[in-house]
Amino acid sequence: GDAELGDFPHYMLKEIYEQPEALENAMRGRLDVGDATAHFGGLNLSAQQLRQIDRVIFTACGTSYHAGMVGEYLFEELARVPAEVEYASEFRYRNPPIDRNTLIFAITQSGETADTLAALRESKRMGHTTLAICNVVGSSIAREADGGVYLHAGPEVGVASTKAFTTQCAVLAMLALYLGRSRHLSAAQGEKIIADLQALPDVLRETLRCHDRVKAIAAKYADARNVLYLGRQYLYPGALEGALKLKEISYIHAEGYPAAEMKHGPIALVDEQTPSVFLVPRGAVFDKVMSNMQEIKARGGPVIAVASHGDREVAAVADDVIPVPDVPEYLQPIVTAIPLQLLAYEIALLCGCDVDKPRNLAKSVTVE
Ligand code: G6P
Repeated sequence: GDAELGDFPHYMLKEIYEQPEALENAMRGRLDVGDATAHFGGLNLSAQQLRQIDRVIFTACGTSYHAGMVGEYLFEELARVPAEVEYASEFRYRNPPIDRNTLIFAITQSGETADTLAALRESKRMGHTTLAICNVVGSSIAREADGGVYLHAGPEVGVASTKAFTTQCAVLAMLALYLGRSRHLSAAQGEKIIADLQALPDVLRETLRCHDRVKAIAAKYADARNVLYLGRQYLYPGALEGALKLKEISYIHAEGYPAAEMKHGPIALVDEQTPSVFLVPRGAVFDKVMSNMQEIKARGGPVIAVASHGDREVAAVADDVIPVPDVPEYLQPIVTAIPLQLLAYEIALLCGCDVDKPRNLAKSVTVE
């Protein structure tokens, strides 16, 4: 009931603010500093199975699909295991070639999404090992998978997923660490990843301090009809997720794109009334994203940049800047999710929308 809301006006805002703690819970007892790896109680994989995995497929819907995209980058970079992600609704009706050493993950907050459940059942029918990355304990997908990892994010009530996304990304990073350490990753590399992960809850506490700034920026852009979200590499799925949040709760049309791809179409949308949200914290592709940002500015489009604290180069180009703490690139989707969630929330409030129960959407889609 409403009592659980405490001082928060909406579940979505409460759940945004719960993320530091949700991450702590998702990581508790799973990081093994001694062996520089991660452990999970319920994977049910033998040491031999673990070593034989030579490909991973993530299947999911909605926000969980975006986490799967982050997982694709994580598994390939940290574990060097080829990974791909597919919408469960597509996967279930395909007959893709999959060999015995491919591991199939269903990523789902609720554990009840009909398409994801069907994809899992289809995978099992074909004899593949299936694992769930799931929040709701005892849900259908958690029960039917061969094993899996719970998010321990606590109940998520707001229809727009927030803490499930960031904990999914953290669990995927821990899984990539675990797989990586069973192959090429050195102990020193493992230790570094563990330290990065352990720092994350406090990093998110600091990130949440951007709220006032985000609120002021929301007031400037709440009457936009279209918004572009742009990022590259790990922040391409971050851009998709930011756009999805805005669409879901404010009903403003938004599109997420890999920043360099916009010149092949979406840049035609850019005008003075069409803001672009750039995900541009410092990292390997920083200069590339900056030049994409300049292309938008040159066409008169307003730019909101999510950037590293104190980044003057970004501030000189962007109209508005939301500062975030620096973290390694593979954790940037988690950190940058926070301002994007807050931006969608504040804009939706200004548009008079019911943020916790947006029209036409359900928390869990249990029909096809
Ligand atoms: C619905 C929700 C989304 C969610 C998606 C997948 O569309 O509104 O927020 O991301 O289902 O849900 P799942 O529980 O499988 O993660």
